[in-house]
Amino acid sequence: MVKAVVLGASGGIGQPLSLLLKICPLIDELSLYDVVNTPGVTADLAHISSRAKTTGYLPNGDGLKLTLTGADIVVIPAGIPRKPGMTRDDLFKINAGIVRDLVTGIAEYCPKAFILIISNPVNSTVPIAAEVLKSKNVFDPKRLFGVTTLDVVRSETFVAEIIGESDPQTLKIPVVGGHSGETIVPLLSQAKPSVQIPADKLDALVNRVQYGGDEVVKAKDGAGSATLSMAYAGFRFAEKILKAVRGEKGIIEPTYVYLPGVEGGAEIAKATGVEYFSVPVELGTNGAEKAYNPLTDTNDYEKKLLEAAMKGLKGNIEKGVDFIKNPP
Ligand code: NAD
Ligand code: LMR
Repeated sequence: MVKAVVLGASGGIGQPLSLLLKICPLIDELSLYDVVNTPGVTADLAHISSRAKTTGYLPNGDGLKLTLTGADIVVIPAGIPRKPGMTRDDLFKINAGIVRDLVTGIAEYCPKAFILIISNPVNSTVPIAAEVLKSKNVFDPKRLFGVTTLDVVRSETFVAEIIGESDPQTLKIPVVGGHSGETIVPLLSQAKPSVQIPADKLDALVNRVQYGGDEVVKAKDGAGSATLSMAYAGFRFAEKILKAVRGEKGIIEPTYVYLPGVEGGAEIAKATGVEYFSVPVELGTNGAEKAYNPLTDTNDYEKKLLEAAMKGLKGNIEKGVDFIKNPP
């Protein structure tokens, strides 16, 4: 029996993500939580004739406890999105506290669940989650993931456009680092099958992957940020975890993890100078089984991008850790 939970289920990401999880045959129970509208979203989804029994709660009474108890996987898209002119870091003020409180609930009610953090700024909210779990003595680094799959999805799409590939999902492009601007580093030299990007298109391509989120924020013109593509990406990553847990082998996905806690990660932490980094991670029955070092095969162009990413990440991580260790 697999129980999946969405925290922030009534939102722009939460609703389509919950729909995808509701129709996923790997899930037996889906439990939804939000501070608004959960009864409506739940009643609506519950009429779909798929396997997952669907329940939903608001914070009143034991809402969070009932949502989380027995959960195997918890996906968190709760929090405010950007408006034009904002950076993801501008969301910290509000989203840091939301993630802290929700992960406190996870520590209490389902400490062994896989936790997938979507709420921005991911570079900081994942360290916040880790520090909360550490403080409750239930931190398992193999079970905490920052979801950076949207950067991978965008890379597939944008590269396919340039090389004229009609099926973007045949491309495997590692995207590493973090999830904001220059901390996002697509490693095009490691694409499989290998891709040839014309030199005059390379900078623009990398920039589009790094700032793809801004493209959507601008197009939505005040009505939020990426929701549908993120729901797809969040589901795609959650489904990979569920498949790995069922014993499927060879699943390797970039995701933002606490490196010292994952096999192979300590060496990458040493090389990057930061403890959190998105790297290709092999998923297995226990979650993040092995981190692969993507830095060894990079070209000079990518090395420069990586340097900027490491610099940017350092402050984001410290800010998240500090939020829990020295509460404001
Ligand atoms: P949204 O405003 O449409 O939805 C957020 C939902 O969270 C709302 O329904 C709100 O009621 C709920 N919420 C707020 N506080 C809560 C709490 N304490 N407990 C439970 N639910 C709570 O926003 P959205 O467009 O769905 O985006 C959500 C977050 O995801 C944002 O922070 C956004 O920046 C981030 N995001 C991340 C990625 C990524 O790649 N990781 C991509 C897109 C968006
Ligand atoms: C994205 O990459 O689309 C998300 O992180 C949302 C944002 O703020 O851009």
